[in-house]
Amino acid sequence: MDLRSEPTGEVTLEMTRESMRSFGYRVIDSIVNQMSGLREQSVVNVATRDETEALFREDAPEEGTELGALMREFEEKVAPRQSHVDHPRMFAFIPGAGTFVGAMGDALASGYNIYAGTWIESSAAHQIEMVVIDWFRSWLGMPDTAGGTLLSGGSVANLTALVLAREARLGSEFTEGMIYTSEHAHSSVDRGARILGFRSDQVRKVAVDSDLKIDLGALRGAVEEDRSAGRIPFCMVANAGSTTTGTIDPLPQLAGFCAENRLWLHVDGAYGGFAALDERGRRLLEGIERADSVSLDPHKWLYTPFEAGCILVRDAKFLLDTFRVYPDYLIDVAGGPDHPNFSDQGIQLSRSCRALKIWMTVKHFGLARIRAVIGRTMDLAAYGQELIERVPVAEIVSPVSLSVVTFRFVPEGVSDEDTIERFNKQILRRVWESGRAMLSSSRVGGKYVIRLCVVNHNTRKADVEEVVDLMASLARELTP
Ligand SMILES: Cc1ncc(COP(=O)(O)O)c(C=O)c1O
Repeated sequence: MDLRSEPTGEVTLEMTRESMRSFGYRVIDSIVNQMSGLREQSVVNVATRDETEALFREDAPEEGTELGALMREFEEKVAPRQSHVDHPRMFAFIPGAGTFVGAMGDALASGYNIYAGTWIESSAAHQIEMVVIDWFRSWLGMPDTAGGTLLSGGSVANLTALVLAREARLGSEFTEGMIYTSEHAHSSVDRGARILGFRSDQVRKVAVDSDLKIDLGALRGAVEEDRSAGRIPFCMVANAGSTTTGTIDPLPQLAGFCAENRLWLHVDGAYGGFAALDERGRRLLEGIERADSVSLDPHKWLYTPFEAGCILVRDAKFLLDTFRVYPDYLIDVAGGPDHPNFSDQGIQLSRSCRALKIWMTVKHFGLARIRAVIGRTMDLAAYGQELIERVPVAEIVSPVSLSVVTFRFVPEGVSDEDTIERFNKQILRRVWESGRAMLSSSRVGGKYVIRLCVVNHNTRKADVEEVVDLMASLARELTP
């Protein structure tokens, strides 16, 4: 197939309908083959830098490449060198698995080149984003005053929350402001604080209890100590599903404490927030509705492709108060409160339409089905824990919370932490090398742990059985 885009007459980048159509069909075929054949592929595919340099390093070409050849280059050189974060046996980090519907939502947003910054340039996209945000608000049980905006992901959502908290509670004088969180907070909290000009000693890591939840007594003590030293406590970042262990901090108590102490309560629900769709998840997340702001990541547990993050704010007006500016060259886009501009409510002016893929995903599959899938992934993590417990040398370090369990293998008679760590690293490396599954590691209370996190909508019981069997046989084989 020849997919050339020939310049004719005056030079433009225009393509014929026929070549656009053929190229588009070719791309769709490739995506469908990839998605439908995923289970049979290796989960982990990592190339060395030498290999990728040799494959891709070149000067930008003066002359164009025919699209069929470009597509072959993608399929032969790019596609095989991707680890599949959407593979059903991807249990590492927080897996992200979009659906075909979401991918096509992105294709439409991109193909129609929707500019989701201003109402006049995308009224319907703005309305859809407001609708989607309102769904999220109601799923979490936040009040009608709440609003929000879609972002690239949880990191930017946490950064945005810190900006809001700083503006709302401190204004421009923030050199003594104090942020509280636990050692299990996502690193984007530290990074966000740094970006905003806070020193590292302005982010205080409060001790956790034996369930890895923030210790309220320790928090109270830290706040009092800081106040008496002239510092200004202003923000608490709580976990609603910490990255390593899925821990949910005691949200109702934190909400009460923060209200009493005038702290902005931000809840990082980037991983765990959408568990609220499940009855059990909703109970576990009780209190999230009292937060001043919440981070959510539709590209995690709401099954949309990257990138899709969200910040929800209890009082939506804080977004406008914090971010709106009026340059002269944007006089034409002011539409009044009924016709808001999302570019007035966040860091970005030009924005892609992230709402479309979320809206299409939820509308196509329906909430009942998505809710059932979220519940099933929680069940599968619990099943994983049960299976791991049956492995003689396995030790559960933190039991399932939401859909993460952490554990390690401790060979009989071995108590030296370094030896245990090396043993578990070996097992993990061998799992990766097998290509059959991917898990990741972290530390809990100083112990090296392996994590199993189930999020993927296509993961089945047999996948969980396969990965636990694999680890059990590696533990046997590698036992010193
Ligand atoms: C709890 C939590 N917060 C924030 C983030 C950052 O999200 P993103 O990778 O979408 O920026 C993550 C990512 O895994 C997370 O687990």
